[in-house]
Amino acid sequence: MTVSSAPGKVYLFGEHAVVYGEPAVPCAIERRARVTVERRDDDRVRVNADDLTLDGFTVAWGGEGGVPELDVPSNLVEAAMGYLDGAVEQARDAADAPAAGLDITIESAIPLGAGLGSSAAVVVAAIDAAARELGTELDREDLADRAFRVEHEVQDGEASRADTFCSTMGGAVRVRGDDCRRVEGVDNLPFIVGYDGGAGDTGELVARVRALRDEHRFATDTVEAIGDLVREGETLLRGSEAPLDELGDLMDFNHGLLSALGVSARSLDAMVWAARESGAYGAKLTGAGGGGCIVALDDTEGAKTALDYTPGCEEAFRAELDTDGVRRES
Ligand code: MEV
Repeated sequence: MTVSSAPGKVYLFGEHAVVYGEPAVPCAIERRARVTVERRDDDRVRVNADDLTLDGFTVAWGGEGGVPELDVPSNLVEAAMGYLDGAVEQARDAADAPAAGLDITIESAIPLGAGLGSSAAVVVAAIDAAARELGTELDREDLADRAFRVEHEVQDGEASRADTFCSTMGGAVRVRGDDCRRVEGVDNLPFIVGYDGGAGDTGELVARVRALRDEHRFATDTVEAIGDLVREGETLLRGSEAPLDELGDLMDFNHGLLSALGVSARSLDAMVWAARESGAYGAKLTGAGGGGCIVALDDTEGAKTALDYTPGCEEAFRAELDTDGVRRES
């Protein structure tokens, strides 16, 4: 039996624009998906996922396997199945064991589809644990690349490398197209996350931005403006001590530009404003948008308390920067 875990992430800057070749800076957070894998005697794959969302589900496939009754939105389950199927294929390929059967158990503290990189964390941890269970240790570059290929396929070719690279490597990372690297020297950023209990459909939101960009020059300019602010943010991060007030201003700006692209939501705006008015350095939605999470920069208890009292905010928590990335637990 092997166990790996991988962290979720927040976007300090740059989601959506990264799909069009602009840079982005996601940061791994100490909320993990943990995947346990045990080899089976047959060629079936059985997945047990208790915490993938608020209610769990169990799915078996391969052989005669069928899909039991499900109590979570079917699009999320279909996506989760696609990610796991892809992860199993990658592990089998890496280990040259195309017909290996596996029992997979997923425990995740990262809500699905909420902008915290749940799918990337599950895929990274699943490939790592499954490959080791089948006798192969992947280096991190290979693992990140295989996890990206899974996301890319499930998201119809629209995924960037940001989530999977960040979850594999940990820390603050900078991603632009295929060029992915750690931003060295960033070991602490005071993140507060607010979660509205909902989820956005990443594929649909990415398609919406693409359509807007195809139709309007201003949308292309907005995407480029996000790229410009990410470059400024990166320069700040690479300085000896990142100035939180200036990073916060850029986060506010980034949220405004994402709103202009139509990917915010009333609940996200309400949480962003609650965090800002409580004195946070800055706040923005994180991930694809449409619902899910915001991230604020705040080194006091103010933003968390304000979010705890904000109607529509289901949960608020401090999220420590994770600097480990994927972890081999056993
Ligand atoms: C989703 O977490 C972030 C997006 O930029 C899509 C991607 O980068 O794959 C919206």
